[in-house]
Amino acid sequence: MKRVVALAGSARAKHTHQAVSRFLEHLEALGTVESEILMLNDYRLAPCLGCKLCFEKGEEACPFKDDRDALVEKLLAADGVVFASPSYMFRVRGLMKTFIDRLAFSATAPGFPEASWLESGHHRRSLLTLVV
Ligand SMILES: Cc1cc2nc3c(=O)[nH]c(=O)nc-3n(C[C@H](O)[C@H](O)[C@H](O)COP(=O)(O)O)c2cc1C
Repeated sequence: MKRVVALAGSARAKHTHQAVSRFLEHLEALGTVESEILMLNDYRLAPCLGCKLCFEKGEEACPFKDDRDALVEKLLAADGVVFASPSYMFRVRGLMKTFIDRLAFSATAPGFPEASWLESGHHRRSLLTLVV
């Protein structure tokens, strides 16, 4: 059984949640996929300060001790990851961008993007982005 985790970046459980739910229902209908939707709003995520400590010393050096690592753990445990966001001013919603910014440490990993956390471990993960 493959596990897919979807991050929904909306402020409410409405269109983005509905779209990602339908997508996951179709995936689960294959019979080989289980899934979970995480609402980013339920997690404490501070905006990046731009200190670059994660670039220089690794992600453990981030001054924030919030829910970033709990989310990263959930993504790492998944075979597939969906980033789903409403379109806000022609871009993803700010909270989704905040989370993406907090993943910037992966962009400085040796061999990025091939060796990033998205492909680390014993298998390659799939990443899909939905904008609603
Ligand atoms: C602050 C704000 C900015 C938005 N900007 C855009 C936009 O640039 N383009 C667009 O097509 N819709 C835009 N919308 C509409 C939302 O993307 C749309 O209502 C979306 O379905 C909301 O998702 P939700 O129901 O998951 O919150 C905006 C809505 C808000 C509140």
